[in-house]
Order: sequence, then C-alpha cells, then structure tokens
Amino acid sequence: MKVAIIGQGYVGLTISAFAAEFFDVVGFDNNSTVVAQLNQGVSHIEGVEGSVLKNWISAGRYKATTMGQDISDVDIAVIAVPTPLTTDRKPDLTFIEAACKTIGTYIQKPVLVINESTSYPGTLRDFIKPTIENFSQSSFEHRYAISPERVDPGRGDFNQRNTPRLYAGLTPEASVKTKEFYSKFCDNLVEVSSPEVAEAAKLFENTFRQVNIALVNEFAQISHAIGISVYETLDAANTKPYGFMKFTPSAGVGGHCIPVDPTYLAAVAEEHGAPATFIRRANEVNLEMSEYIVRRVAEDNGGNLEGKSVLVVGVAYKPNVADVRETAAELVIEHLRKKGAVVTWHDDVVGNWKGETSAPLQGADIAVVVTKHDSVDAKKILSSAHYVFDTTGKVKGAKGL
Ligand SMILES: NC(=O)c1ccc[n+]([C@@H]2O[C@H](COP(=O)([O-])OP(=O)(O)OC[C@H]3O[C@@H](n4cnc5c(N)ncnc54)[C@H](O)[C@@H]3O)[C@@H](O)[C@H]2O)c1
Repeated sequence: MKVAIIGQGYVGLTISAFAAEFFDVVGFDNNSTVVAQLNQGVSHIEGVEGSVLKNWISAGRYKATTMGQDISDVDIAVIAVPTPLTTDRKPDLTFIEAACKTIGTYIQKPVLVINESTSYPGTLRDFIKPTIENFSQSSFEHRYAISPERVDPGRGDFNQRNTPRLYAGLTPEASVKTKEFYSKFCDNLVEVSSPEVAEAAKLFENTFRQVNIALVNEFAQISHAIGISVYETLDAANTKPYGFMKFTPSAGVGGHCIPVDPTYLAAVAEEHGAPATFIRRANEVNLEMSEYIVRRVAEDNGGNLEGKSVLVVGVAYKPNVADVRETAAELVIEHLRKKGAVVTWHDDVVGNWKGETSAPLQGADIAVVVTKHDSVDAKKILSSAHYVFDTTGKVKGAKGL
C-alpha cells in the first residue's frame, strides 16, 4: 500500500513517520526547501527525529517530493495542510483547495482520501469531495473520510499510537478503509456517525480550551483587583475531586489551533443563524491579555516605559517548541513598543524570528516572561533585569499575574 501525505508540517510529517512503518509513504509538500531537507533525513518538526526519517528513507519507505506525478499511483491520500484565517478572520480553505487540486489532477485511480486538516463541519462533504471531483479528469469513485488530528507537538506522553482518534467516512466503505489504515499505528479508534460530528468535535475540543483559558485569564485580573493570589486560589479550587478542571493564566493563546479553530466554529455557527457570542468574547479576552500585562508592568515601573530596556523572555507560543505561530509574545512586544520601551527578546529555542535574533538573558531594566522553556533557568531569569514580570507562574520571586 502506498500513501501520499499532502503537507509535511507538524501533522503531515508526524503521520508520515508513524505510517512509514507499515506503508510506502510519499510526503508531498510544495515547499522545496523542506522537501530537500527531508530527503536528507533532516526533520524540521519537534518529535520527529532525523534518524527515524533516515531509517525510512534508506529502507525505501519514505520519500518527500514536490512533484505531483509522484502520487499518481497511491492507494490513500491524506490531507494535512494549513487551515488559517483570512485577514478578515474568516476560514481560509485555499490550502485545502490546492491540496484537492493536486489529488484531483495527479491521482489516476480510485483512492481513499482522508482529511486531517482542521475545518468546519461540512468541509469534507461540501468542499473537499466536489473540489477533487472538479479537478479530476476521470470520474473516479474516490472514498472520502475525516480523521481530525490531535497531535500536540513536543509532547512525550501522548503520540499517534496512544491518542484516541476520531474518524468517519462519507460512506460505510470509506469508514472501514479508514479504520484499516489508522489501526496499524493507532490503538484507539473511535468511529462517529458522520464526518460533520468528527469535524465539529475537533473544533469543540479547541474551543473548550480557548474558553477556559479566557475564563482563567479574566479570573487572574479579578484576583489581582481583589488582592489575592490567582495561583493559590486555583490550587484551592483544584482540591475539588470532581467538576473542576484547572487551567492556568497566561499572556494569551498561540499556535495554529487554539486562536484559530474556535473562529471556524463561530463562523459556521453564524452562517447557520446561531450566535457564537461566548466564543467570540473568549477570543477577545485572550487577545486583550497582552495589553493588560503591559499595563501592569508600566504601573509597577512609575507608569512610564519610555526608553526602558525590556527583555521579553520566551517568544515561542508554548514551552519547549520553536513554533511562533500566533504567539502572544508578538502582541506583548507590540504593546511594549507602543509605550516607548526598547524591546529585545531571549529565546534560544526559537533563535531567529522576524529578522531579529535571540538576545542574551541579562542586563535589562525589565524582563517580561511570556514562555518559559525547561532549558531556561528561573534564577537566571530573575537576575536578568531589575524588575521581572512573569506571566507563566514558573519564576518564583518575580512579579506576576
Ligand atoms: N500543529 C498542530 O499541533 C495541529 C494539531 C492538530 C491539527 N492541526 C491541523 O492540521 C493542519 C496542518 O497543520 P500543521 O500544523 O501541520 O501545519 P504546518 O504549517 O506545520 O504544515 C503544513 C505544511 O503544508 C505545506 N503545504 C501548504 N500548502 C500545500 C499544498 N497545497 N500542497 C502541499 N503542501 C502544502 C506547507 O509547506 C507545510 O509544510 C491544520 O489544519 C491544523 O489546524 C494542527
């Protein structure tokens, strides 16, 4: 069996590395630099070791490509391309459309098409299937299914094998084939009654996180106003053995999923005339956190940040990864600069970002910790500036939420 995985990023490469144990995998990506590196056995994704890629390459089980012809004879095509928002914050399916064009144009027999990209309910049935059919020269009877990805990059305890995976086909045959495919490298497959249920479940999972993070971020502001510790209060609430799940405050949400997926859900809700006020407000609260933090830092420093050197510690969107997509650090830096601060950042995991490089962890007037990687010593952070504001709750002795 030969499998094409369209998109070799966090999701696509991770799946490729697991699937190559059982199938011949063609990793199709339109980024020629990434493809060239992958074929050398160089991984750009945390959690996928270059040595693993090298093994599959030398065993003839994995090959990356930018050439559509290389997927013409596959049996299964998995879509794992980005699903961002447009500039006016609407679902942007242009990458999925391009992946459908590749599948439709180049695949020369009936295959199983599985979508792993996150999108709104109805995407598989009403967008992917007709788009592929539109680009196909012959009227192949492809099978279509969805299996939303749950990978958490950089995480050690949960992986493709032990994370339960939802799936649903457009037809019963597609469901059976999808189960056969994933059961090779996933131990817990959960079939749902329609692709729309699987698509909506994925969006709701991340909306649940976004709303709870917004709630705890609002609660951090309330706790500060009352004059109590938000962390002690959360720990106290967390002693309840049922009906409570602890989330911790932060500078906001980042990454490709949590700031984006709820907006897909809100968009489809509003299209159907159902209000999504809660989801929209949660997004706003999280976006507003950066401004709140900068206000707190300014208040503690005589109300004025003009000309002060401020070191933002950690610009990745979460600890121990180099991913800066939608990172809250960007808004924190923007608000600090608006107030006249001279801002640099320290993050050796990220290294280079937006034409700037990671600055040394020392010598600033003010440090604002947005993300704390395990490799960064809390004591070093404390001594990097005269005043340290920590948004993570991990730097003891610093000011914080
Ligand atoms: N990163 C995560 O943790 C995560 C988790 C669950 C679900 N998802 C979802 O999975 C999807 C992919 O996300 P990702 O994080 O892997 O994205 P990514 O940006 O890491 O990777 C996407 C890859 O697709 C390639 N690409 C773009 N257009 C293409 C095309 N037309 N043909 C071939 N390749 C193309 C890009 O060059 C890139 O290498 C998104 O819908 C995302 O929401 C991501």
